[in-house]
Amino acid sequence: MRVGVLGCGNVGGALVQLLAADAQAIAERTGLTLEVTRVAVRSTARERSVQLPESCLTSDAESVANDPDIDVIVEAIGGIEPARSLILDALKSGKPVITANKELLANVGAELVDAAVAAGVDLLYEAAVGGGIPLIRPLRESLAGERIIRIMGIVNGTTNYILTRMSEAGASYSDALAEAQTLGFAERDPTADVEGYDAAAKCAILASIAFGAKVVAGDVYREGISGITSADIAYADRLGYVIKLLAIAEQVEGEVAVRVHPAMIMKTHPLAAVRESFNAVFIQGEAVGDLMLYGRGAGGMPTASAVLGDLIDAAHNLRSGGSGRASSPGRATLRSIDELRSQYYINLEVADRTGVLASVATVFGEHGVSIRSMEQDDEESGEARLVFITHIARERDVQATLHGLRELDAVHSIGSLLRVVGSE
Ligand SMILES: NC(=O)c1ccc[n+]([C@@H]2O[C@H](COP(=O)([O-])OP(=O)(O)OC[C@H]3O[C@@H](n4cnc5c(N)ncnc54)[C@H](OP(=O)(O)O)[C@@H]3O)[C@@H](O)[C@H]2O)c1
Repeated sequence: MRVGVLGCGNVGGALVQLLAADAQAIAERTGLTLEVTRVAVRSTARERSVQLPESCLTSDAESVANDPDIDVIVEAIGGIEPARSLILDALKSGKPVITANKELLANVGAELVDAAVAAGVDLLYEAAVGGGIPLIRPLRESLAGERIIRIMGIVNGTTNYILTRMSEAGASYSDALAEAQTLGFAERDPTADVEGYDAAAKCAILASIAFGAKVVAGDVYREGISGITSADIAYADRLGYVIKLLAIAEQVEGEVAVRVHPAMIMKTHPLAAVRESFNAVFIQGEAVGDLMLYGRGAGGMPTASAVLGDLIDAAHNLRSGGSGRASSPGRATLRSIDELRSQYYINLEVADRTGVLASVATVFGEHGVSIRSMEQDDEESGEARLVFITHIARERDVQATLHGLRELDAVHSIGSLLRVVGSE
């Protein structure tokens, strides 16, 4: 099988390296000889850590995607264009395509799947969510007959690293972010990670597969972690929780609910033990019960390992004259975040005087939000901090409560609102 690789950075370069080192072993195990014959990059002049014959390298990615001598294409460029057009070209010319490009899949995945179905070839993307962790294939194949209730994932290593440092080393958000940047876990512009965009793209991909319905990144309700304070982390710890950025996809009353937000999760929950830049996805199925898949969610080699698995799968299918089981699902019926039912953590700064607690409690009561526990810390400035955990309430009612609290003179500021996960 002649493989054309588009992009030779972290992922493409690691794949080329893996294939060079393991082609013989792969041939013995699978009966497939995989040979990288052409590699497209932006600049052929750039120095690379991988060894490639000069004749193999080109800056004309289009010529690789359309090369009749190439059997399979791996797209490892990233972003929407030119990746989208190159993949469409390759599929139309009958080549299976492997990609790790979550941004592309979460935005125009349906168009690509339609093109793959029309051409009768594979479009595989195991590496797009959870890097080296096998997630897509277990969901699509091993759990094909399972009724998935909910998927909750820590799918962004950068934010998990920052939150781990905040809770374990007492670091502030900005110090933990700076540390992640120094260690190469966070980009110089960390917006896509810390504001939850990357996790939302992955959430859309997972939901589409788990529920067999089209979900795009823009459908996902999204909040990031930049508003999480050391005080939130400390309260969570005291109350028996840790704070994690979760991507949650669930099916409720025939509707698909997709959201990414920081959440308080019980310390005893398996996801609470996922530290530093590791990823994990917790799957709840009706018959299978609880499952968790854990590992390195990023990095050139772990991601290339998942790409290689797809490559072998696609090559097998091509040799046997078929493709996998891709189908073009219909659009999901989405459930609004307003309908979410959860426990909530609410943190307020109020005037430290008699009667304030009663007026705050009245606002909760007016909106039918019942308080499960409350802590009060007096602060030096004549203010008090009130921390509430509610019983299960509806998001819409909790938002109305916050609106009501903002109108009270005695409420000086409203800090974080965090959903307590595992209580619904
Ligand atoms: N890195 C990870 O840990 C990870 C994990 C999961 C998924 N992914 C996904 O994998 C994909 C690749 O990520 P990466 O980290 O490997 O990116 P990267 O290191 O930035 O590499 C991108 C590669 O694409 C090449 N390229 C850019 N524009 C091109 C064009 N117009 N034509 C041909 N080649 C072009 C670049 O060429 P030059 O080398 O000449 O600049 C470079 O080799 C992305 O979709 C990413 O989301 C990455």
